[in-house]
Amino acid sequence: MNPIKALKGFKDLLPGESARWESLASVLRECFHAFGFSAIQTPILERTQLFTRSIGETTDIVEKEMYTFEDWDGKPVTLRPEGTASVVRAFLEHGLAIPSFPTKLYYYGPMFRHERPQAGRLRQFHQIGAEIIGESDPRQDVELLSLLTYFFQRLEIEGLTLEINSLGCAVCRPPYRTVLESYFKEGLPELCEDCQRRFKTNPLRILDCKKEGCKAMVDQAPVSSDHLCEECETHFKAVQAGLDLLKIPYVLSPLLVRGLDYYTKTAFELTTKDLGAQNAVAAGGRYDGLAEALGGAATPAIGFAIGIERVMQLYGKSKSAAPKLKLFIAPLGEAAGELLFPVLNEVRKKKIWTEMGKPSLALKRQMKQADRLGAEFVLILGDREREEGKAILRDMRTKAQSELVLENLVDVLANRLT
Ligand code: HAM
Repeated sequence: MNPIKALKGFKDLLPGESARWESLASVLRECFHAFGFSAIQTPILERTQLFTRSIGETTDIVEKEMYTFEDWDGKPVTLRPEGTASVVRAFLEHGLAIPSFPTKLYYYGPMFRHERPQAGRLRQFHQIGAEIIGESDPRQDVELLSLLTYFFQRLEIEGLTLEINSLGCAVCRPPYRTVLESYFKEGLPELCEDCQRRFKTNPLRILDCKKEGCKAMVDQAPVSSDHLCEECETHFKAVQAGLDLLKIPYVLSPLLVRGLDYYTKTAFELTTKDLGAQNAVAAGGRYDGLAEALGGAATPAIGFAIGIERVMQLYGKSKSAAPKLKLFIAPLGEAAGELLFPVLNEVRKKKIWTEMGKPSLALKRQMKQADRLGAEFVLILGDREREEGKAILRDMRTKAQSELVLENLVDVLANRLT
């Protein structure tokens, strides 16, 4: 019988790696609190309509990447491909608006997209996301970008570029779309098949095409930042001024468009040259029309999501927070085992990671085990020591040995090892 393996694009998170994730998540949690964000958890499964309405019917995600199936009642449900739509749904459903102040929420969890798996691109991946809901002031855009860049400073990940653009709004996007349509119309037969389809559904998406054949035309295309209405123009300028004021480096990226339709005004990506084709470690933008599109009151908002698997590829392997085995107890013989088993139990309750060898094994075998587990100290108890009321504590790094009296052994160990 063939052994059953995980699905393609779905990854196990093994113990060593998961300790590194924990250490990363704890740094991020600390930053979120300092910036006034509270945690929210939304379900992994939602009504399909939530995503079609928010992400957009003609996006790649909705057209070909969602894990959608019929629930037992015949209604379509979808494994969430991203977090923003669910957070806004929850914000509206539970009335999370705070009078005269934006609601700041963060989340962490798995997302699902049926993409072609490759390095840095999975079908189940994890995001840490942040959403500021209820404020249109460009200062919120700057605060959010400051938080995002601060994360990476704290993680000591360098070489990232913050790319920003403005995608306009319901006022200036339609005329810009017309400009784009007439630009691409002439060279339409030269565009790839996907872009010919995008021309009909959403010509802005053509700007995101990386295919060689389309690139020449895309590079010369009219850009949204040249076609902004006054309000969007002022907003975009204010965001740039704010970033300058906080000395946050960025580059203007006029061809930056996003793969989700809900964006308005500011859009951004944090990219790296160290990850090959999947170069965005985080991305986001303003989505002032989303709450209304989901049936709520008009509510401006902005957010980002960080791709954890991609960040983990950049996060120093040395930053392992894997706990170290502090103490290995080596009892020599059953009597020593009986005496030390309660000690093992009590020392663990002092928050000291402790393991114990089998009393029937010779000292040499137990020392080898302790060594393999990376133990910092070994406590040895043989017949002679037991008769003398003492045990030996060996420092595995320095090889120094000392004697500990068996009386109050738990407290003595706790004092020595913490
Ligand atoms: P997104 O650009 O689709 O935006 O995803 C954000 C990040 O998730 C990406 O930059 C990438 O790091 C990671 N990511 C996306 N797809 C995959 C994948 N298949 N495998 C591994 N990592 C992936 C959003 O999801 C928006 N909800 C962000 C947002 C929040 N906008 C406003 N608020």
